[in-house]
Amino acid sequence: MEPALKRLVVVSNRLPVALRKDEDGWKLKQGSGGLVTAMAPVLKNRGGMWIGWSGTSDSGAELDGLMDDFTEEAGYELCTVPLTEEDVDGYYYGFSNEIIWPLFHDLQSRCRFHPRYWRTYLDVNFKFAEVVARRSSPEDYIWIQDYHLMHQAFFLKSMGVRRNTGFFLHIPFPPPDIFMKLPWRAKLIQALTEFDLVGFQTVQDRRNFVGSLHRLMPEARVEGRGAVVTINMGNRSFRAGAFPISIDYAQFSDMAARPDVVQKAFDLKEALRHRKIILGVDRLDYTKGIPERIRSIQTLLRRYPDLKGKVNFIQIAVPSREEVDEYKELRTEIEQLVGRVNGEYSFPGWVPVHYHYRSLPHEDLVAYYAAADVGLVTPLRDGMNLVAKEYCACNNKGDGVLVLSEFAGAAAQLQKHAYLVNPYDVEGIAKALHRALYWPIEERKAHMTRLREQIRRGNIFRWVDSFLRAGIAKSLDDFPEADT
Ligand code: ADP
Ligand code: F6P
Repeated sequence: MEPALKRLVVVSNRLPVALRKDEDGWKLKQGSGGLVTAMAPVLKNRGGMWIGWSGTSDSGAELDGLMDDFTEEAGYELCTVPLTEEDVDGYYYGFSNEIIWPLFHDLQSRCRFHPRYWRTYLDVNFKFAEVVARRSSPEDYIWIQDYHLMHQAFFLKSMGVRRNTGFFLHIPFPPPDIFMKLPWRAKLIQALTEFDLVGFQTVQDRRNFVGSLHRLMPEARVEGRGAVVTINMGNRSFRAGAFPISIDYAQFSDMAARPDVVQKAFDLKEALRHRKIILGVDRLDYTKGIPERIRSIQTLLRRYPDLKGKVNFIQIAVPSREEVDEYKELRTEIEQLVGRVNGEYSFPGWVPVHYHYRSLPHEDLVAYYAAADVGLVTPLRDGMNLVAKEYCACNNKGDGVLVLSEFAGAAAQLQKHAYLVNPYDVEGIAKALHRALYWPIEERKAHMTRLREQIRRGNIFRWVDSFLRAGIAKSLDDFPEADT
């Protein structure tokens, strides 16, 4: 049943499009990453407003005009939050990308806990909250997305602005021992308790959150045992739940069935002389396990010489956070590794690793998914990982194999029919790949059919409905169990 919803106001760091300047002037560029992939069909379907940063610290009538054109086409309103260069530096590159991102992905040694980052994060959250307060009304449902904006409910309340607020964390919530390393842990967790509903990707993430909450705010009492629980804080309460995010399954599957995309997939296979294709698709990020994955391909070729000349590994990496040093270093590391494997194994007519460092048009990406025999998705840690679901949705022939990291949120849902691997275990991945490539077709089809059915049912629209129902329902008795 559809929740009785007033207007939906989505708030995230990024909008679905970002303003970028090239030699011909300003352009709107499609945003990248799982958040945009997931939320864009939601707003297109329901209408409402999306508030976020424009992707630049410049402003002016030309830029406003571009955003207005998008609004007219999209069917929902875009509202930009202007940020200065210092804001972006401290709040986005600093606090979000050098503290929360590594910490929440269990990589605390990569964190730079500068107090300046924390202060700018608070200032920028205040700026966002001012825009939300101005552009929304008490009847709206305010849905805050992701770790950049964890202080929205806190600031709205401190301004005396009453709104029904939900927060969804797209990335993992770390175990308490890791969360406790954050110098501002008590303030951050307290800010999260100010939302009316806090959503996580998996039940384990919610447990981790509750574990940290118990340590830092011992007055918290948890009621209920289902996918959504109520947390009583003495004089007030809020809800916390697991809502595994998904994709617009039909959109991916239908596109993969389009004759022009089928032709693209065929051309790709033909260009590779119908060898088996193993595919990796990621933002270029150190959480995605790309170097380990390339090493596993090296191990595969070393261990199983029967595969030489018979298989190609294609890694598509979309540029991400290029201003951050660690991302620059990672790019160099990957390029060197690709060079090393190709230098060691290629021969005339066969280059084992194909590496593309660019964002692809949607049709091309879908054609790659459709052409691949194995989807190799091995993040070291990931909130969900939508690529895993996109690969299955595009595999209309139903004979592909999904090799999936056990540390991706998607594994909690897809573990029965994906081939789970430890992303740090390059020999284990190589073994899994070898088995996957020789797996009998009946078995491959049986597993892929189930994966596709699971993703088709648990699609992005179901995710939205379950979150909003939990956000709006008066009592949790009205709320059936969510998928976990
Ligand atoms: P994250 O949110 O960390 O980036 P996800 O796997 O959840 O990880 O989402 C990544 C999204 O980015 C997917 O929707 C995927 O289709 C898209 N994407 C990844 N690589 C590319 C690429 N090279 N070109 C276009 N889109 C890409
Ligand atoms: O899905 C996690 C996430 O951090 C999103 O919040 C974000 O939009 C996406 O990855 C891409 O990252 P960024 O916005 O930093 O380019």
